[in-house]
Amino acid sequence: MADGTRTTTKRQARGPRAAATAGAGKGRGAAGALLGVPAMPLKPRPAIPALAPEERASLDAVMARYGNDPASVLAMLQDINDLHNYLPRHWLEELAARLKIPRTRLYRVATFFRALSLEPRGRHICTVCIGTTCHVRGAPKLIDKVERDLGIKAGETTADMQMTLETVGCVGACALGPLVVLDGKYHGHMTPEKLGKVLKKTPEEGKDN
Ligand code: FES
Repeated sequence: MADGTRTTTKRQARGPRAAATAGAGKGRGAAGALLGVPAMPLKPRPAIPALAPEERASLDAVMARYGNDPASVLAMLQDINDLHNYLPRHWLEELAARLKIPRTRLYRVATFFRALSLEPRGRHICTVCIGTTCHVRGAPKLIDKVERDLGIKAGETTADMQMTLETVGCVGACALGPLVVLDGKYHGHMTPEKLGKVLKKTPEEGKDN
């Protein structure tokens, strides 16, 4: 009788909480179950496509330009960025494998330099300087103008992938402030009106022409 009582007491002590934890461990994270947090299914990572034959030839050319030397990885990334206006992930994977370097090294370089982007960007890049001099001379109004005209915020790209709006700190041409850099070309003493005209002409006078 005494033994039976002890056995029952042990089971009760392990009780419903232990049972809940054991059951939760099968279908969801035990810690999440204890905290009452609903289980979040893990999203499978999208597969990285292999390079198409013409892409492979293009990457070959970039790598050959620098003697396939891993020390020239920044120059290679700049060339790839110039080709696409950003760094496609499958190109980075292939480059890392071919150079036999960790892909984290590529991503470190890609995220350190502002000229490189891991996100797809538009055919044209409009960069408004927001350094102190440009700011006090009216850079915020220029950003407002682009945001209104193109319907995007700084850091975004238009749906037709024509224009990306970016901001940058001082680019060292304060005498020209407020300054806008459009596809690498400096436009100084900019006003919202002048900027509107420049943007309108951009598709015809963009870097591809
Ligand atoms: S603050 Fe814009 S170029 Fe210096």
